[in-house]
Amino acid sequence: MQLLQRTKLFAPFLPLLLCSAFCFNFIISQQVLSAEQKTEKKEKPEGKPKENKRYEYRAEHDPNGIGKFYLGREIAHVMGHPAAIWLERPEREKEEKLSLLIKLLELKPGMKVADIGAGSGVLTLQMAPLVAPNGKVVAVDIQKEMLVRLQNRLSRTGIKNVELHLGDNNSPRLKPNSVDVVLMVDVYHEFEFPYEMILNISRALKPGGRIALVEYRMEDPRVPIKLVHKMSEKQSIKEMTQPAFSLEHTKTIDKLPRQHLMIFTRK
Ligand SMILES: C[S@@+](CC[C@H](N)C(=O)[O-])C[C@H]1O[C@@H](n2cnc3c(N)ncnc32)[C@H](O)[C@@H]1O
Repeated sequence: MQLLQRTKLFAPFLPLLLCSAFCFNFIISQQVLSAEQKTEKKEKPEGKPKENKRYEYRAEHDPNGIGKFYLGREIAHVMGHPAAIWLERPEREKEEKLSLLIKLLELKPGMKVADIGAGSGVLTLQMAPLVAPNGKVVAVDIQKEMLVRLQNRLSRTGIKNVELHLGDNNSPRLKPNSVDVVLMVDVYHEFEFPYEMILNISRALKPGGRIALVEYRMEDPRVPIKLVHKMSEKQSIKEMTQPAFSLEHTKTIDKLPRQHLMIFTRK
């Protein structure tokens, strides 16, 4: 009864109350909407290349690259595992003198070597006997299929001192201070996160440990390789000696027919 009387009392003001509630709601929802739009605009600047401190993204780029640039160089697409057969081609020895490359690494029995971007293990298989019996080669790749292919090749040999290791785009996931020599053949230019990779690789090296970086010579137009899959010595040294890595460029050996062999030592 009391409730009925109160309702009657407010009845003349009901349209006014309803109207104010609607207006309040409308104003609040407009404010939320415009705040959302502002945030969206902040996150997606239109017409400008996406940038962060370390990497730059350009719309116009080499079709063989991923459109992501590091210190002015475009990063190449990763070579897919179906192309493993190309890595294993018999004429590679004549074109790249892999056996000379391995000799130049000066490996010794007992050493721990990481073959980063090992692919199907062409280099791993040649290095493993040189560090046996107590040393080993850790073959790192981000494609499981490559490691499976290497496992199959290993099972056809008597080689026992190879460890297969799945890395990721940022890190080979190796223990700190654990490796004597890191070999990277025809892979560095494909790293999607070169800064993070080299930072983690340098941490995995023992003090005095070495990185052997092997890249097709950009300076030589006769080297029959796509541009983004080549690197100049100058650019390689610039990228590999960023202060956080504590790496020193010790020497470049230009005895290979198509590639630079650049040695960096952990200080
Ligand atoms: C062109 S192949 C070279 C393989 C081998 N080094 C050789 O010369 O026979 C490059 C390999 O590097 C691997 N790769 C690319 N990015 C990598 C990364 N961040 N960490 C480890 N491996 C990577 C690819 O999956 C591919 O198997």
